[in-house]
Amino acid sequence: MISALSVTDLSLDIGGAKILDGITLSVKPNETLGIIGPNGAGKTSFFNLLSGIRKPSRGKIFIGDLDVTDLLPHERAKAGIARTFQTSSVFVNLTCLENVRIAAQAAHGKSMNLTRNAYKFTDVVGHAHDALAKVGLSAYALHRAGALSHGDKRRLEIAIVLASKSEIVLLDEPMAGMSVENVPELVEIIRSLATVHKKTVLIVEHHMEVILGLADRIAVLNYGELLVCDTPQNVIKNPIVQSAYIGEAL
Ligand SMILES: Nc1ncnc2c1ncn2[C@@H]1O[C@H](COP(=O)(O)OP(=O)(O)O)[C@@H](O)[C@H]1O
Ligand SMILES: [Mg+2]
Repeated sequence: MISALSVTDLSLDIGGAKILDGITLSVKPNETLGIIGPNGAGKTSFFNLLSGIRKPSRGKIFIGDLDVTDLLPHERAKAGIARTFQTSSVFVNLTCLENVRIAAQAAHGKSMNLTRNAYKFTDVVGHAHDALAKVGLSAYALHRAGALSHGDKRRLEIAIVLASKSEIVLLDEPMAGMSVENVPELVEIIRSLATVHKKTVLIVEHHMEVILGLADRIAVLNYGELLVCDTPQNVIKNPIVQSAYIGEAL
């Protein structure tokens, strides 16, 4: 079966420092890949390469069998990669509905001129409402996104991802800043990306119990290198991983 996403020898040097070094891995369609590693291991940089925010110094990135290494971020988004950021990145002065509608608009390839075709506009707004409903934010459709709680902003980001119709979803520490009692609910929403919406999900997360509960496989990064990529059970008992994580709870 062809991979949803694969990288070969992916490397990033910044000012002589090896930020990522020779990463080779592939993610199957509808798989959830957890990515863990100490702070500064290169997890966010890896996502920056996948989404095209940065160009690799070496190596290739494929979506399916399409080489996207030289595509710009918006071209990659069209090819099927959506991401959420480590810090929440919604348009705070727009309503929730408008935030999601912009993503739906782009995904359905309609003109940004909303006044031109009333029927199409209705269609896109319908998709946006659907996406908000899927993350439980329907009641907030007309609320300003900036007024949402931190947890609800993360849900809004997931609604944006759903509306974008991307097959591959990159989530960078989606639990960051969430209060503990809201974590299980967000975990279920993230789980639904794969189980209900059939997305391929890559998730960076510090909460090990979250990763262990969600991931089909876990990739461990350390100092820009891929230590291991295996099932959660095998990763936990891997001696290389255990030594890299000395002093940290695994
Ligand atoms: N723009 C940049 N310029 C120089 N160094 C950077 C830049 N971005 C990240 N780094 C460095 O790359 C390493 C990996 O960072 P990052 O990808 O953010 O790690 P993680 O997300 O795993 O915590 C860190 O040592 C960081 O200081
Ligand atoms: Mg990071």
